[in-house]
Amino acid sequence: MPGNSATEPAALPLLAVRDLVKTFGPVRAVNGVSLDIAAGEVLGIIGDNGAGKSTFLSLLTGFNRPDSGSLVYRGRPVRISSPAVARDVLGIEMIYQKLELAPDLTVAENLFLGEEVRSFGVFSARGKMRDRAAAVLRELNTKIQPEDIVGELSGGEQQVVAIGRALLFERSLVIMDEPTAAISVQKVADVLDLVRRLRAAGKTVLLVSHRLEDLLAVADRIAVFFHGTIRKVMPNQGLAVADLVHAMF
Ligand SMILES: Nc1ncnc2c1ncn2[C@@H]1O[C@H](COP(=O)(O)OP(=O)(O)O)[C@@H](O)[C@H]1O
Ligand SMILES: [Mg+2]
Repeated sequence: MPGNSATEPAALPLLAVRDLVKTFGPVRAVNGVSLDIAAGEVLGIIGDNGAGKSTFLSLLTGFNRPDSGSLVYRGRPVRISSPAVARDVLGIEMIYQKLELAPDLTVAENLFLGEEVRSFGVFSARGKMRDRAAAVLRELNTKIQPEDIVGELSGGEQQVVAIGRALLFERSLVIMDEPTAAISVQKVADVLDLVRRLRAAGKTVLLVSHRLEDLLAVADRIAVFFHGTIRKVMPNQGLAVADLVHAMF
């Protein structure tokens, strides 16, 4: 069960979103969204197709810039002007539905992809990289080995690798858009377990899913998107799938 304390909004939200608007030509994909995201919570996001969920996330990860509105991160006004700013300056990590992993490389290489030089210097110490990868994989309680080739892993195992990056680089906000859409049913439980582990490690998680029962299993609160706005934010207490469906339509 989700923790009770996390349903109480923290005094200082990790991220305060105010009146965010993003249009694509005549389409108001995000049409005035305000939301406080508490540090350490798992916030589920639901809504019909086209409700603006992915566009909203793209404004937090720097893939799109808002037309108007403001973001305050740890009490500081921020402009998330690029994915690099989101990731490296603010510690916001996006885990995509289509995982951006290099299938021909090993797990260790994927964990450090694009970060080798920063982490280990130009003459990258592969032994050290392998050791840190092994430590993170142990923390995630998985049988995956640093030397395994990512392309040979199952979809669920590849999720684990993507999530491992969030732990390695001390991201504070992990955003997942439909992470369980493309994987087998028994692996869904593994992904949900990882969400719990991220929370236990002090991360904040935004999780968009059409699998309402998944959200009921892990979320502290659930926000309902409707036509580019947030219609409702509900603490995950005493909710059933039917309540969520009712709130969505
Ligand atoms: N790059 C884009 N260009 C034009 N329209 C877009 C773009 N991205 C999203 N939209 C439109 O914005 C609206 C919200 O889409 P989206 O954020 O993907 O919704 P959701 O993730 O909730 O299904 C939809 O009408 C969609 O067609
Ligand atoms: Mg979407």
